[in-house]
Amino acid sequence: MRLHDGSEITAEQIEELNAHGPYSMAVWKSGDVAIGNEEGLQGRSAYFTSLIRQSILARFSLDEIKGFSILDIGCNDGWVLHTLSDLPFKKMVGIEPREKNIAKGRKVRELLKLTNSVEYRLGDIESIGDEVFDIVICAGVLYHVESIPLALRNVRNACRRMVFVESRCISSKYVTRDLMDEIEMRDLVYRFKERQCGITAQKFESAYHDGSARHATIVNIPSAESLIMNLSILGFEGIDVVADLDTYRESVWQDKRPLSGICIAATLDPAAKMMESEEQTWIDEYESNLEATVLDRAYIEPVYRYIVLGDMATNLPPKSGTTAEYLTLAASKADEMKAKLASLHQDKYEIEIVQNFRYSPRDKIALEYGKLLKSEGRLGEALEVLKSISSKLNADWRSVYRSFHLISEIYREQQNVAATNRYRDLCLKCNQKYPVNRRAQAET
Ligand SMILES: C[S@@+](CC[C@H](N)C(=O)[O-])C[C@H]1O[C@@H](n2cnc3c(N)ncnc32)[C@H](O)[C@@H]1O
Repeated sequence: MRLHDGSEITAEQIEELNAHGPYSMAVWKSGDVAIGNEEGLQGRSAYFTSLIRQSILARFSLDEIKGFSILDIGCNDGWVLHTLSDLPFKKMVGIEPREKNIAKGRKVRELLKLTNSVEYRLGDIESIGDEVFDIVICAGVLYHVESIPLALRNVRNACRRMVFVESRCISSKYVTRDLMDEIEMRDLVYRFKERQCGITAQKFESAYHDGSARHATIVNIPSAESLIMNLSILGFEGIDVVADLDTYRESVWQDKRPLSGICIAATLDPAAKMMESEEQTWIDEYESNLEATVLDRAYIEPVYRYIVLGDMATNLPPKSGTTAEYLTLAASKADEMKAKLASLHQDKYEIEIVQNFRYSPRDKIALEYGKLLKSEGRLGEALEVLKSISSKLNADWRSVYRSFHLISEIYREQQNVAATNRYRDLCLKCNQKYPVNRRAQAET
């Protein structure tokens, strides 16, 4: 057995290598010597490392790579970056929380007479530090950590241009319609983003194997959806599943194990913002559109009289009658009625307002009636209706802060600066994220 330089590897050296093992993540080669016993992981590292190479070369020229740095998180014995070290990177760094794994790589490279310019450091995904790399690889790590969102946030912070994530995954068959119903995906975000959800499974894991968690803990195995959502919320773009679960299984596990895996390459515009920074934009858009939507008098006045004032003699036109009926229905029937409301109202914000009448109807209907009065210039009456909400015990939170805002705006029209400010402050106290009229804020 000869190494690439023609020399022989000795029995003592093999004993040393065995003492440093297991070399179970990848196979190190030199001449006709191969060090590695991947067992159940056979072919995995070679497969995804070739995808990393392809993903990098598809996005960047060799000239660009000359100026780039690359980080491999949880690099184990460092095989991945060693394999990529023929690319002309300016800086290559692998971090790994187990000193033993770093030493394992050092030993095999020394004995097989392999060299590279990679810097291997002790470290983990939870504390990467402030250094930023053009490309970040995170392979085989996410399903060994306690928090995937926090781990990926650190990846994001350490990444300038591209990330490559390889992870074990749970099947998407668990992401069902029933699950979506059960977790109630009603957040504001879903007005602006695709209706998407993911899952993670938890299991115990000790630090016994040198490829597992850093300490005994509960780890999370994500679904593909969960990984994609995490990358998307962090501002990654062009999220490209370069090996989906089926491809990965066929290429690597070949049905020998029940595992699924995924490889994702994604890019980052250096100026990209994390999704959370979009939150205020969404709130502004949502609240401004709700405020600008004024319901027709012919529809809302009878509903107001009937539901809020309790005037049972009110003559309810069909559209108003449907709303009144909707409010009396059991939850299962109300869901069916929502479709009818949508066909009667059409405008998306109008539908949102009417469908939401279901909870705290009196306050929400009064708010809409107050809004109508304000739009008609009947400011005194509007103030009276809106204050019936804002000064009511246990009033509906949303109706309260919206009333505070409308009251403030009415006082602004009436040039009552003190009252404008008071109600604006009450609005912001009630909901710090409410987009109060910025102009009014500047004026006062
Ligand atoms: C399954 S191995 C994968 C090794 C290599 N990246 C690969 O894909 O072949 C997982 C590696 O992640 C390391 N690891 C475990 N917990 C980690 C953490 N919190 N941060 C960084 N690496 C971690 C382990 O020590 C181990 O080397």
